Amino acid sequence: MATKQIKKAPKKVAPKKVAAKAAAKYGYFDDAKKEYVLTTPATPIKWCNYVGTLNFGGIVDTTGGTLVCKGDPALNRITKYIAQMPCSDFKASTIYIRVKNAKGYTVFSPFVVPTLTKMKKWECHVGLSYMRWIAECEGLRTQVTIFVPTGSNTLLQDIQVTNLGGAAKEVDIIPVYEFSHFEAEKQLTNADWVPQTMTLKGHWEKDGHVVLEQYAYMKRDFAVNYVTANCKVGSFDGDRRVFLGMNEMGSWAAPLSLANKELSNSECDRGDNIAALMIHGGKIAAGKTFRTCTQLGQEQSLKVAAKAIKKYRDLKNVDKAFDELAAFWQKYLATIQVETPDAAFNSMVNVHNPRQCHTTKNWSRYLSLYQLGYGTSRGIGYRDSSQDLMGVMSHMPEEALQLAKNLLSVQRPEGNAMHQYAPLALEEDNGNEANAGDSREKKGVLDENGNPAYADWYGDDHLWIVLTVANYLKETGKMDLLNEEIPFYEAGKKRAQREKGTVLEHLKRSLNFTRTHLGKHGLPLLGFADWNDCMNLPLGAESSFNTGLYAKALLEMMDICEALGDTASVEMYKGWYEDVKKAFNDSAWDGKWWVRWFDKQGNAYGTNKAKYGKIYCNSQSWSVISGIASGERAVMGMDSLNKLLNTANGVKSSTPGYRGFDPNVGGISTYPPGAKENGGIFLHTNPWVMIAETILGRGDKAFQYYSQINPAAKNTKLDEFESEPYCYPQNILGDEHKQFGMGRNAWLSGTSSWTYQAATQFIIGVRASFKGLIVNPCIPSKWDGFKVTRKFRGATYEIEVKNPKHVCKGVAEMIVDGQKIDADVAPIFTKGIHKVVVTLG
Ligand code: GLC
Repeated sequence: MATKQIKKAPKKVAPKKVAAKAAAKYGYFDDAKKEYVLTTPATPIKWCNYVGTLNFGGIVDTTGGTLVCKGDPALNRITKYIAQMPCSDFKASTIYIRVKNAKGYTVFSPFVVPTLTKMKKWECHVGLSYMRWIAECEGLRTQVTIFVPTGSNTLLQDIQVTNLGGAAKEVDIIPVYEFSHFEAEKQLTNADWVPQTMTLKGHWEKDGHVVLEQYAYMKRDFAVNYVTANCKVGSFDGDRRVFLGMNEMGSWAAPLSLANKELSNSECDRGDNIAALMIHGGKIAAGKTFRTCTQLGQEQSLKVAAKAIKKYRDLKNVDKAFDELAAFWQKYLATIQVETPDAAFNSMVNVHNPRQCHTTKNWSRYLSLYQLGYGTSRGIGYRDSSQDLMGVMSHMPEEALQLAKNLLSVQRPEGNAMHQYAPLALEEDNGNEANAGDSREKKGVLDENGNPAYADWYGDDHLWIVLTVANYLKETGKMDLLNEEIPFYEAGKKRAQREKGTVLEHLKRSLNFTRTHLGKHGLPLLGFADWNDCMNLPLGAESSFNTGLYAKALLEMMDICEALGDTASVEMYKGWYEDVKKAFNDSAWDGKWWVRWFDKQGNAYGTNKAKYGKIYCNSQSWSVISGIASGERAVMGMDSLNKLLNTANGVKSSTPGYRGFDPNVGGISTYPPGAKENGGIFLHTNPWVMIAETILGRGDKAFQYYSQINPAAKNTKLDEFESEPYCYPQNILGDEHKQFGMGRNAWLSGTSSWTYQAATQFIIGVRASFKGLIVNPCIPSKWDGFKVTRKFRGATYEIEVKNPKHVCKGVAEMIVDGQKIDADVAPIFTKGIHKVVVTLG
């Protein structure tokens, strides 16, 4: 036999086969269906997908665990998903398929978890806001599709079981959910009050349908969860102890109750609430399919829910809802579609990156398998969401604006902003919806004069929103927004009692705050932190990053004032810009690169003289993005970054990493060298490097920085990368770490919005402006050109870029609908399809 195998595998073919197998080890991209298809559940770490929106939805992992929330992960959680449990454990939901045999039953889960049954075939399709499994086992093909119909408060689970051949098979389907207390953190920290309040009731309907109603007692009259199916059920269980059996000596892998024909119809007046339904599929003949659909929803009452329940009990409506979801994505993605010579770039820019931006827009840094959405440690982050919004601005500007207004409403009258807010608390108008983030930890620490040693504000938060609003205005042209009044944040007061200001006034106060909070060198103060959360120097420290961001915000404000015809303000802000540019150039140049911070005594961080943290990425990129670095210094800073910080897996945020905890620098030194902000590849910073390179006109470099972090290109390196290949993680371990190349913290990262901006607005070079649509690419010189379709202010621009001279940048000619245009800006049309041909050279 061995000889035969060797014969079958001649020398030269063997390595190729191995390589092909390695490539397909975990799954593959199906670009036509816009899916990533997993072929094994045994991914290196937990992978997941998102369904629905923040209004209703959450996470579905690749083995069927679901984390569902309505409106707020911390304050209104529905399912009990404990992310830290091993991949093989039940996490909040599963389906059991039970097949009758001569002796009793065979039970398996099409998700593999928790029965851990070996499948003949298994696929998990990670789709656009849906998950679909196809599992073959016991001669049955089970297809399960999980999604939230657009705009609904219901998670649907469409289950189809087909008999693949042979004798008819008697099949039961038992879907199960486990509920969480609505205050997610209490579920974990209070095992007295929580279980006393958790309640599950079964309501039989005349025709044999059942609705299981669940709530924490105090929510009975306000918000109830429910589980039901489109078809009649034989029985149910609502008490976990009863379902697992023998006082929970039965396990999720093999619940003892599944040995009985029916479940016990247990309700649960206290304790661990579950919703298990016994759905009898009956005898399924060869080639035939049994289909059922479950609903998990939340409404004010079952009476209110009745309409939705009825709707989704009709499978035609389930199909329609799935088609509507597909139509939503079709329209969303059609806003920008590219066709370049690079397939991995196309795949990311056309599907996965804009999709991830939609996810970050919804969940900020609030709910992922890393940021677990408990308590007040997180929420909708001011800086995070301001940046996320720029990633969806071309696709859903009005939804983005809604969130931008929420952010503006937690800006203080002084101009700086609260660090984060809880969406439900904001809705409740309880006077205490926002908080000052991690800076709360240093509250009460005093300096040598008895004054607070640390700021309770962040130096960057309030500046991001200037960029976001400018983005909205350029995309939509709706300048009236600037006159709309929004309250400032005054804790303890209802919104109606708070000071109000127009949106323009909010932006002015943002800039004014920084203008009046400068340090010794005339640079913006760090505050508690700038973008880098992990460097918390005592009050008085200055930040190069905040300098760049402030200068960029001033440029955006100048654009806005110019569009308003307010030349006096343009001049004023120009003056502020020149002041800070001079201060920066006078103080922050280290000889070969820009320093990152000065502490209050004036000591530099990010200098060649330092032992650790000699050079930081952000001061190089942001000084170019904002234009405060120019000429030789701009190039030198970026070249130093390339030499000292670049690796094959991305640009490190700094080097060398601190080698142990140093209380003077705090957070950054809590990580080992090479991890996260301490010399790790913090991916969020990478697109800024790409953008800076396109500003310098170095398209080959920009594209190299793009490609080296493209997760789609890591599909063949997953044993190293480990993270989902269909979205950006927040960080990759750097080359000072043994596990160099390993990605962590997938999905919720500013990397998504900024890489999308870098790709579409700077590499592809198509961006909105007050005057029209700019087309000014900066591409790899080897490209012959590319095509892009962009919807902008009601019109469709079909753009073709030609690169006959193989340059990186420089628009030699722009022709719009056959007419030569003098610059690189295509006019605003408001309707129709328009052809734009740009020749580089
Ligand atoms: C995390 C935070 C973000 C911060 C970054 C760098 O991603 O969510 O706000 O800017 O870390 O420290």
